[in-house]
Amino acid sequence: MKSIRFLIYFLVFLLSSSFIYTNLIFAESCDNCHRSITPGLVKDWESSKHSQKDVKCSTCHGDKHNGKHNVDLVILPDETICAGCHKKQFDQFAKGKHNFGWTSMNALPITHVEPDELMEGGKGCGGCHNMGIKTEAQKKEQKEKGYRYQNNSCDECHTRHSFSKKEALDPKACQQCHMGYDHPQWEMWESSKHGTRWFTKNSGNLLEGANAPSCQNCHLPDGTHENRTAWGFLGVRLPLPDDPQWKADRITILKALGVLNPETGQPTSRIEAVKAVDMVRLTEEAWKDEREKMLRRCNNCHSPNYARKQLEMADSIMQKSDRLLAEAIQIVADLYKDGIIKKPENYSFAYPDFLYFMQTGGGDLNKLSYIDQVLFQMYMKHRMRTYQGLFHMNPDYAYWYGWAMMVKDLGNIKELAETLRATHKK
Ligand code: HEC
Ligand code: HEC
Ligand code: HEC
Ligand code: HEC
Ligand code: HEC
Ligand code: HEC
Ligand code: HEC
Ligand code: HEC
Repeated sequence: MKSIRFLIYFLVFLLSSSFIYTNLIFAESCDNCHRSITPGLVKDWESSKHSQKDVKCSTCHGDKHNGKHNVDLVILPDETICAGCHKKQFDQFAKGKHNFGWTSMNALPITHVEPDELMEGGKGCGGCHNMGIKTEAQKKEQKEKGYRYQNNSCDECHTRHSFSKKEALDPKACQQCHMGYDHPQWEMWESSKHGTRWFTKNSGNLLEGANAPSCQNCHLPDGTHENRTAWGFLGVRLPLPDDPQWKADRITILKALGVLNPETGQPTSRIEAVKAVDMVRLTEEAWKDEREKMLRRCNNCHSPNYARKQLEMADSIMQKSDRLLAEAIQIVADLYKDGIIKKPENYSFAYPDFLYFMQTGGGDLNKLSYIDQVLFQMYMKHRMRTYQGLFHMNPDYAYWYGWAMMVKDLGNIKELAETLRATHKK
């Protein structure tokens, strides 16, 4: 009996000392082990201000995980970890437009029929819309679908694990997201006089004191993390304009955005979602406030008169391109009304619905009529280029990729509509 008890004591002793041995006394530090697991990452961290200031791996990731066997115990930190030490930047970010990236993406009807890889997995829409603090419900949904990463927005401009301010001040920090199909601000700025001057300066071919504005100078000035523009992405706002034709055109566009009921003209429930993510400026004051802030940026280099005139021309091209778009919407809407093209299953109304992004969901994923696809492209690609090109001082985008393409789209739509009507079997 005695010897058995002794043996048990001895075994317990052995087990606990080996526990102490491996886990407390000689436990390998995070950065030491990760120096062989993820060497590049540790180098990045070593180059950062964080490593100098004792902000360690475990400060952000917790200390529960210590090897391959318990990787699931590691914390993949969201923005609140950064807020603990950088409250000012966090609070500004939380008030800005970037904070609505995830929620606005999820507010679209189309999002819920797209593949999860592109959303929660971050390989499509979710790769750029991973901007914004997620709600508990959104985090839960992501976990349940099996996606573990993409918890942090603060590493989008000063990327992990160097977390460098210098990197975030370089306009390239914005490039991955502000490019492409519907918001090519990168391409526009890069090839405008502003951008080319910035690059020329960067390569040492401009005089020392000479200047050129970067994205950050105009949109995140003086270190602020709160961003917003007067017109926003959709290029619509309230109140409606005084000019009767522009007012009618804007109403037609708001119907195609599904925020006004096409039959009654009354607001739909979608308007609440638009308000919730700060998608449009709802008052004249809110719009003017952003506009004046922007003009103060221009006035660093240009005369107030010069700058104001430039932005007014952009507003007025918005009016003219709305005329083209509204005419095209009306043609397609009439085809729906006359039963020439069929209402996609998921649409609320027999009317174009831009927020379905060309796919209509449900069983008829690709059943959007071709003419409605041309209309969508006219809105999402070409109208965007027309006014974004003017706002970013890029003549080629404003004209050839924008305005000229809208004119072409309208021509196509007219001809397609005629053919559809002529060949329609009653
Ligand atoms: C003895 C080696 C070792 C130690 C010590 C260690 N890790 Fe790891 N860690 C790993 C391995 C192995 C992986 C898994 C790599 C893989 O297969 O993706 C990992 C993965 C991770 C991940 C990524 C998790 C994921 O889902 O991709 C993080 C974050 C991490 N470790 C942080 C830490 C932190 C913080 C510490 C210290 C508290 C630490 N590690 C200590 C070996 C170690
Ligand atoms: C200032 C906070 C911070 C510090 C310090 C930090 N990390 Fe991270 N780490 C993050 C964030 C944020 C993510 C991304 C989380 C996400 O996207 O869900 C991340 C992701 C990771 C990942 C998984 C993603 C990848 O790219 O492989 C690993 C592994 C990792 N960290 C290891 C480490 C190690 C090792 C250290 C120390 C040398 C460290 N981290 C220090 C904030 C930090
Ligand atoms: C425990 C406190 C702490 C946490 C948590 C923390 N930081 Fe820091 N961070 C610091 C300190 C300290 C500095 C250095 C400040 C200085 O030198 O002025 C710093 C500096 C920075 C800088 C500026 C670096 C430069 O090049 O000047 C950035 C960007 C930054 N942190 C981002 C983040 C992000 C993003 C997170 C979350 C993923 C985070 N930090 C989490 C303490 C922290
Ligand atoms: C390349 C990165 C990228 C991809 C991919 C992307 N977006 Fe965006 N999205 C942006 C950017 C950047 C903006 C803001 C552009 C602007 O204001 O001009 C934006 C704007 C939006 C807006 C308007 C937000 C607002 O409040 O004004 C919605 C809604 C949206 N995207 C949904 C989606 C959906 C749904 C998908 C996938 C079908 C998608 N996006 C794919 C980067 C992206
Ligand atoms: C990871 C992707 C990503 C990066 C990087 C990024 N943005 Fe954005 N940005 C977005 C998305 C997504 C939106 C739309 C947010 C929403 O849906 O509410 C947006 C919105 C904006 C807006 C507001 C437009 C409006 O509606 O008024 C501005 C201005 C802006 N970004 C500027 C910048 C600048 C400048 C940088 C670089 C310093 C930058 N962004 C980096 C994704 C990004
Ligand atoms: C010289 C100043 C300036 C620079 C540089 C600049 N922008 Fe802009 N940006 C503007 C103005 C002006 C608007 C329109 C503001 C309004 O609605 O009144 C705008 C609008 C935007 C918008 C909202 C939608 C739109 O009209 O395009 C986004 C997003 C944006 N800019 C991102 C960027 C990014 C990213 C860069 C760098 C690649 C950049 N901007 C460079 C001045 C600038
Ligand atoms: C859209 C890009 C972008 C995002 C997203 C972003 N930052 Fe920044 N951050 C910047 C820029 C640009 C600077 C440099 C500001 C300056 O000095 O003018 C910066 C600087 C910083 C600094 C250094 C401040 C200083 O003066 O030393 C900290 C700290 C920081 N950011 C924290 C955060 C935190 C926390 C988040 C997330 C809540 C965040 N950032 C998200 C662009 C971004
Ligand atoms: C940091 C200084 C700076 C800021 C800020 C700035 N610009 Fe410029 N801008 C320049 C310089 C320099 C040029 C080149 C002048 C020339 O063509 O000789 C220029 C050129 C232009 C041009 C002419 C482009 C062409 O193709 O000839 C327009 C239009 C313009 N800026 C409008 C604006 C507007 C509007 C704003 C504010 C939204 C603004 N700029 C902000 C420095 C600036």
